[in-house]
Amino acid sequence: MSDSDSAIGPGKGKAATPELPTPILEVLNLIKVFPNGRTVLNGISFQVFPEETFVILGGSGCGKSTLLNILIGVLEPTSGEVRIFGENLHRLQGDKLKALHVRCGMLFQSGALIESLSLLGNVHLPLREHYRSVDPAVLMETARLKLRMVGLEEHGSKRPSGISGGMKKRVALARALALDPDLVFADEPTSGLDPVSTQEIDEMFMRLTRRIGAAAIVVTHDIASFFRIAHRAIMLGSERDGALQGRIILQGDTQKFRASDHPIVRRFLDFDRGGQDHLDAVAKCPGGTVRS
Ligand SMILES: Nc1ncnc2c1ncn2[C@@H]1O[C@H](COP(=O)(O)OP(=O)(O)O)[C@@H](O)[C@H]1O
Ligand SMILES: [Mg+2]
Repeated sequence: MSDSDSAIGPGKGKAATPELPTPILEVLNLIKVFPNGRTVLNGISFQVFPEETFVILGGSGCGKSTLLNILIGVLEPTSGEVRIFGENLHRLQGDKLKALHVRCGMLFQSGALIESLSLLGNVHLPLREHYRSVDPAVLMETARLKLRMVGLEEHGSKRPSGISGGMKKRVALARALALDPDLVFADEPTSGLDPVSTQEIDEMFMRLTRRIGAAAIVVTHDIASFFRIAHRAIMLGSERDGALQGRIILQGDTQKFRASDHPIVRRFLDFDRGGQDHLDAVAKCPGGTVRS
């Protein structure tokens, strides 16, 4: 771990101690080679600590979704290990796997709402699946509270097709947080939204994950989002980066990314005007803090 890495997680703001917090998720030398021979991930290692927002950055096609799909157990790694809450994810089965699913929430890129269900029904679904012995009326009340949390209580009876893109993301967020998870995964949670809606969703995401004390692993290629939400991040190299393809180009907090003179990092961060405007604003700000 680098110096900046040690300044995160629940120990943040406290005096330095020799003990590091226990990671909630650990990725150890992950390699993913697809059957067509393509090596998409090539020796990825990092740790995520309780209550931090960890961002996976990189250009289109660099392997962000592949990595996230391995972290949620949908894809098997070719080699390496994912340890989640201290357990080897890809060895878990049966009740242990179910227990793990309750502790994790997932926010899909498309929102993945079920059209045949109302918004309330969509949020109710994970509660019903996981608490089969609990009175459905009680669970419906919980679902209503979750919809209120994202400001959509009065829209509960609508169908997904009848609401805006930003509202769909909010419903998907309420559903991902329905079981009060310890860890939330999100793949491009603001994709397809305009900058103002993106900022609203980012702020809602941060507020709510903090409120329930969840850590989050967020995939994004949106630089403005990255600076808004990240405690720490990794940036993955893509095909155009030659030998760095599938490897971690930089790992650390937002300060480390801002200060990096790595040409691939600079090209990525400076490409997006939103990110650059943010960098400019930070440069003018005494103390130069990113997070408000
Ligand atoms: N099942 C697969 N078989 C072969 N190649 C794949 C498969 N899934 C993804 N890829 C390739 O892996 C690379 C990374 O994809 P992905 O993880 O979706 O990237 P990102 O989410 O960063 O845009 C892409 O070049 C993609 O074409
Ligand atoms: Mg993707």
